[in-house]
Amino acid sequence: MSPTVVLLHAFPLDKRLWDGIVDSLAEADWDVVVPDLRGFGGSSFGDEGPDDEPSLTLMARDVLSIVDRLGVNSAVFVGLSLGGYVAMEILRQDPSRVAGLVLADTKASADSDEAKDNRLRIADQVVAAGNTEALARAMVPNLLGATTHTGRPEVVALVRGWINEADPAGVAWAQRAMAARPDSHDDLASMTVPALVLWGDEDVITPRAEQDSMMGALRDARFVAVPGAGHLTAVEDAAAVSSALIDFLADVRHLPRAT
Ligand code: MLT
Repeated sequence: MSPTVVLLHAFPLDKRLWDGIVDSLAEADWDVVVPDLRGFGGSSFGDEGPDDEPSLTLMARDVLSIVDRLGVNSAVFVGLSLGGYVAMEILRQDPSRVAGLVLADTKASADSDEAKDNRLRIADQVVAAGNTEALARAMVPNLLGATTHTGRPEVVALVRGWINEADPAGVAWAQRAMAARPDSHDDLASMTVPALVLWGDEDVITPRAEQDSMMGALRDARFVAVPGAGHLTAVEDAAAVSSALIDFLADVRHLPRAT
């Protein structure tokens, strides 16, 4: 039996980030769950509304409650950037739910004070503007690698369009939640299930040093670099990411599947 695979998207995007991956995992016989994180895509802020104190704790709880509703006890959590922060928060909340962990283009370190201030400033700006156009202009150059920028203008336009569609309130909430996140190295060090650290070798947002730092903390981890991809590996080279995921998942297939 195979554990379920949960794909957690990056900021400020939504579950469409995984469009190029989902079918290949399903064809390889995996049950795949692809939520929109709180504030993005088709998600809602929940009963308490957007005034909830922003935190990754709430995002992680949302994901676990989706998985609960599906009757799944433990799953392989695959998180890209923000999705990785949420996956590490799930690990912190309840390691028994994690059958394996894929950390793609993410980092375990908390923000510096300067990075936190920058996030809070961007959150205020996006809410004041009432749209995410300036955010898209600022982020797209770094989200995608040089190879994609040079050779695949349609991917650049696709990602810009996704960011333009993001809800400013959701973007601001997520920025504030990410600013408050703790360091996760100790959580990774205490993990007893296999991990994959996956990284686009043109990723300038979460550089190689952050990947090495996660690898240093993890006991049972493999590292895969995706050549010619930037921060959004799952979009820039879906075939390479699918193949790395399927290889990794084959190793955790023997773990018990909760029902
Ligand atoms: C992401 O891609 O999710 C973001 O780069 C995460 C962040 O802002 O730290």
